[in-house]
Amino acid sequence: MRSSRTPSRACLAALVTAVGLFAAGTGTAHAADTPLRDLAAAKGKVIGTAVTGSKLTGTYGDIAGAQFSSLTPGNAMKWGTVEPTQGSFNWSEADQIVAFAQAHNQQVRGHTLVWHSQNPSWLTNGSWTSAQLGSLLQNHISTEVGRYKGKIAAWDVVNEPFNEDGTYRSTLWYNGLGSGYVASALTWAHAADPDAKLYINDYNVEGVNAKSTALYNLVKSLKQQGVPIDGVGLQAHLILGQVPATLQQNIQRFADLGVDVAITELDVRMALPADSTKLAQQAADFKSVVAACAAVARCVNVTVWGFTDSDSWVPSTFPGYGAATPYDENYAPKPAYHGIAEALGGSTTTPPPTGACTAAYSVTSQWNTGFTGQVTISCSGASLSSWKANWTFGAGQQITQAWNATCAQSGAAVSCANASYNGSVPDGGSVTFGFNASWSGSNPLPTVTLG
Ligand code: XIL
Repeated sequence: MRSSRTPSRACLAALVTAVGLFAAGTGTAHAADTPLRDLAAAKGKVIGTAVTGSKLTGTYGDIAGAQFSSLTPGNAMKWGTVEPTQGSFNWSEADQIVAFAQAHNQQVRGHTLVWHSQNPSWLTNGSWTSAQLGSLLQNHISTEVGRYKGKIAAWDVVNEPFNEDGTYRSTLWYNGLGSGYVASALTWAHAADPDAKLYINDYNVEGVNAKSTALYNLVKSLKQQGVPIDGVGLQAHLILGQVPATLQQNIQRFADLGVDVAITELDVRMALPADSTKLAQQAADFKSVVAACAAVARCVNVTVWGFTDSDSWVPSTFPGYGAATPYDENYAPKPAYHGIAEALGGSTTTPPPTGACTAAYSVTSQWNTGFTGQVTISCSGASLSSWKANWTFGAGQQITQAWNATCAQSGAAVSCANASYNGSVPDGGSVTFGFNASWSGSNPLPTVTLG
């Protein structure tokens, strides 16, 4: 006969899977009910994200597929990726992203055909005549654009051609072929896929300045010459609080030239650690960029350069900076997500969550007289340098042993403080401690508060 104190299997399972109560902070973030892609579609816009092919499963894949109507391969279509050895191609990640996009009814922005960076070493280390360079580039463009003909909505044909002062950047292409390489590349791309929209893409061209004016003059002249140019990409790798005041005016002047505009690589980086003030500013920044695009009919696409802080180029490229995307490292939507939604006409009734650290209590195993419990302290948009987790046992439970924390119990009140080595909980991180305790009769889950 089973002891009356032994919980049934089902009961134990329920206890084991029970998630403890979130007790501290202001609650968890919730994505708005309407996905960003639907909000964008209602405004005639496309919302995209850069992606890494190998990550397109699980939660990452779910969010990429559900929230976005366009994907840009972050690296998978760059020359160095697709042709690491001359004549030997690796299309696997690019193919995978294109297939994912098709399965999720998404556009693909091809990125990028002609650039000074992330080229294969056989190309950059070779010494080529101008004629050889031209035919290498033509072959590259024909091969890659041809492979994905009909599957790519828009190509970033030429990436980052200008210096900050508006002169041409000194690159393999400019030095070998002259400024005409831009027109040649566009013409070759058009021949390989006449239906793809062809873009020139650059950074620090979001506001009206010398560099964006050089881009403007180039597009104007290409249009006059009948070169196939359909759009300009404003990368928009921005710094917190520094959205250019002339963004919408700049988008409008390109639109008035008769080309589309896309925000192609939006992120807003901040000095780490993030805090709720910075995250609120970031939400305002994302919102104003998306609103500027929404205000101009020919601004067709806003793409974020990675949708989660766990898949962002920022921390490794700009040391000390990060938290630049709309979702945190654990895939929780940040205030920036809501900023985007609001600019697309989404509900403003979901209060933007502020940063918080929360504690989750769970029972991981239980037997006749005892049980093992654990508490996980997680921070998002906030951090801790020390912590205390407090709760009151509801049914006479008594702690017998704890690890990764120092626990004291007085009557029903328990207080567990961090050990010397785990007081710090970074933004986006978590710390877990465990304990054994006795119980009898029932073992209800307490509410944990952080203090
Ligand atoms: C970045 C990728 O995100 C990184 O993973 C890679 O290491 C370097 O390139 N402008 C561009 C993008 O056009 O291709 C760059 O992507 C970011 C800056």
